[in-house]
Amino acid sequence: MEHTFAMIKPDAFENADEICKIIEGADFKIAEKESLTLTPAKAKSFYGEHKDRAFFSGLIEFITSGTIVAMVLEKENAVVDWRSLLGPTNSKQAEEEAPDSIRARYGTDVQKNAAHGSDSPSAAEREIKFFFPEFDLTETHRTSQGEE
Ligand code: PPS
Repeated sequence: MEHTFAMIKPDAFENADEICKIIEGADFKIAEKESLTLTPAKAKSFYGEHKDRAFFSGLIEFITSGTIVAMVLEKENAVVDWRSLLGPTNSKQAEEEAPDSIRARYGTDVQKNAAHGSDSPSAAEREIKFFFPEFDLTETHRTSQGEE
């Protein structure tokens, strides 16, 4: 069983319940889920690999502008399957190439793109530990409904 990190961004927070139903309908278990507002310091740390990019300050302003939902998703091939359900990074491109994807349905452009997903198993481990330091990556977990 593999784990990945998912984040519903501020532009899609109002659709969070609907997005979670889509996630569970695609056979992911939501092993952890927490709503929070990121501080600028925490956002800069999370997106640190992009700190020299021109879009960095805009990304930090956007991601700290409202509530986000941080989640750990559990499934076989969770990393690849969650990226696939998300669609391309740019929601405009997603509308063309993957109209059923979450970014096509709930995002707007490359910044307001509804949700984030880890791009590799090593990124998933780092991002899960960043938000859920106590999470045990070696175990299969129960959902919030108590199912296994
Ligand atoms: S990379 O490294 O070039 O492949 O970057 P990419 O995966 O395309 O994007 C990384 C995250 O940065 C956000 N992003 C932007 N935000 C604001 N403005 C612009 N122009 C922009 N370009 C990329 C993008 O939404 C990605 O966020 P995540 O959370 O990873 O989806």
